[in-house]
Amino acid sequence: MKTIIEPFRIKSVEPIRMTTRSERADLIKAANYNLFGLHSDDVLIDLLTDSGTGAMSAEQWAAVMRGDESYAGSPSFLRFEQAVKELMPFKHVIPTHQGRAAEAILMQIIGGMGKRIPSNTHFDTTRGNIEASGAIGDDLVIEEGKDPSLDHPFKGNIDLPKLEAYLSEHGAAVPAVMLTITNNAGGGQPVSLANIHAAAEIAHAHGKPFIIDGCRFAENAWFIKTREDGQQDRSIPDIVRDCFRLADAMTMSAKKDAFGNIGGWLALNDDDMAEEARAHLIRTEGFPTYGGMAGRDLEALAQGLKEIVQEDYLRYRIRANSYIVERLDALGVPVVKPAGGHAVFIDARAWLPHVEPLAYPGQAVAVALYEIAGIRSCEIGTAMFGRQPDGSEHPAAMDLVRLAIPRRTYTQSHADYVVEAFEELASIKDRLQGYKIVKEPKRLRHFTCAFAPLG
Ligand code: F0G
Repeated sequence: MKTIIEPFRIKSVEPIRMTTRSERADLIKAANYNLFGLHSDDVLIDLLTDSGTGAMSAEQWAAVMRGDESYAGSPSFLRFEQAVKELMPFKHVIPTHQGRAAEAILMQIIGGMGKRIPSNTHFDTTRGNIEASGAIGDDLVIEEGKDPSLDHPFKGNIDLPKLEAYLSEHGAAVPAVMLTITNNAGGGQPVSLANIHAAAEIAHAHGKPFIIDGCRFAENAWFIKTREDGQQDRSIPDIVRDCFRLADAMTMSAKKDAFGNIGGWLALNDDDMAEEARAHLIRTEGFPTYGGMAGRDLEALAQGLKEIVQEDYLRYRIRANSYIVERLDALGVPVVKPAGGHAVFIDARAWLPHVEPLAYPGQAVAVALYEIAGIRSCEIGTAMFGRQPDGSEHPAAMDLVRLAIPRRTYTQSHADYVVEAFEELASIKDRLQGYKIVKEPKRLRHFTCAFAPLG
């Protein structure tokens, strides 16, 4: 059969509250044109993030009932720890309430003034935690990864010669090499197994630990299986273990590829680092056998980790994304190609050439998409990354709009509705105007800043 169907049926549903276009124009204005400021029941299709927004399975809900809420030594923790180690065999697994808490603990240990940490592309919270510690984060993704329309199987790869040169130049200041799989900020693009291994080897040759931000490890493994030479006959768990084989540590948001609504972890091999991490954990998150989570969350994740590596799920998951990308491409909407794992990325800078990067073309597209169709997306561009630590503002490398697809949550007719919204947007896009930021916080401004339309 040609059609790849959703490999599940629906047992429980959540109603969507319908709104009109004029209601939405008022609602987004009241939210200062910041989509994070909307109430979610004023959104028809919420593609703000794939983080924590997935649907849990019947087995996960059943596991929730098994959650043991003991302060110390809960069997739920042991089941969670075992499920993690089954895929990522690190010696120490430290549970946190989400990915950024793991990053914060890690940066307390390895960050600090004068330090520099390279990655393919740091996600915004990772960069936020690096910079909050006084360190600098550097993005070394391959050149192909910066060209939205260029077809390349592993656009998330880190540039190995650049990494080598970077370590030769800044070696003493570098506490670790990081790698984000898949590369979220660069379009949800995967990193090849060969690139992961080579980056680890370069890091180790310079005496640096190699740390993976593994939020979307299963999607990345699916791309390795389907795109990388010699990987086709391997199982997904086998590929996942290979991805982490040379890593010294990982940070994880379990809200992505662990099917959790909340959760995360920091895993590592070094005993001293683990001891220090647990000391921070106890101060900021909780006791080491629950960290930032309830026992029931740990159970849901233990089950989620078993489901996320199933091939029927991953085949459908990746196809759902490429279906939208293909149809938008056919409409002439500039999309990041090939389709990434968790999201569709629109190249707003290319689509709205009349809006300067410093007038946030991505924000213009995102606001219009909400007004027209009630779809909530997210700017990943100059509004998110433009403000520099020294206070100046520069255009980001790209101005993208992300439609992140929650896991197992929406159906194909929702996808068709999204495509239809872009058909309508295409007819008015030359009239869209840019925005200015009228109020912003010191860090991570895109979450709370106030925009105003230009003109
Ligand atoms: N690393 C990556 C690559 C991420 O995509 C995220 C979160 C984090 C770390 C932080 O994890 O949210 O659990 O604290 N990304 C979400 C997103 C928020 O929408 O892409 P967290």
